[in-house]
Amino acid sequence: MKSVRVDSHEDPVEITTNARVLDAVLAAREKLLMACGGKGLCATCHVYVTEGAERLSPMTPRERMSLPMLADRRPNSRLACQAKVLGNGVKVELPRGRFIDAASDLDKLIGRRAEEPILHPVTGAVLIEAGKLITRSRIKELSFVDVDIAEMKTRSLSMEMNPKIVR
Ligand code: FES
Repeated sequence: MKSVRVDSHEDPVEITTNARVLDAVLAAREKLLMACGGKGLCATCHVYVTEGAERLSPMTPRERMSLPMLADRRPNSRLACQAKVLGNGVKVELPRGRFIDAASDLDKLIGRRAEEPILHPVTGAVLIEAGKLITRSRIKELSFVDVDIAEMKTRSLSMEMNPKIVR
């Protein structure tokens, strides 16, 4: 077993050696979009590794292909579904404001100012900047997010069925 610290959770979660970072994130009851179902094709399971990066499996070809598409990637970015935990002491953080499944998820925030940037769930681009008022019309404008998610799921499915596209 290996212990992994996830985001602001005080207690580490225990996962089996060689399990994915994704398994630790889910064990911590954090929500990830996982548009491709954990196949390394969509980058919606993006995390930042803040400690113990050397105790993870090396970056996979799918990560090298998917990570450059993200606007919010950093040198310590990994895909949670691809990185496997080989040793203790790994800590990951989730990109802030990223995990919306659909534009309608933001309905509950209408009338408030965004406390942190709200990011596109697929690309990581900023949709609403921190401090900006979230209005009904702004949410309506963001309906393209739902189309982007649906397209990503379709693209992931076709890449999976045609693996020669992925090197
Ligand atoms: S869930 Fe799609 S890349 Fe990890």
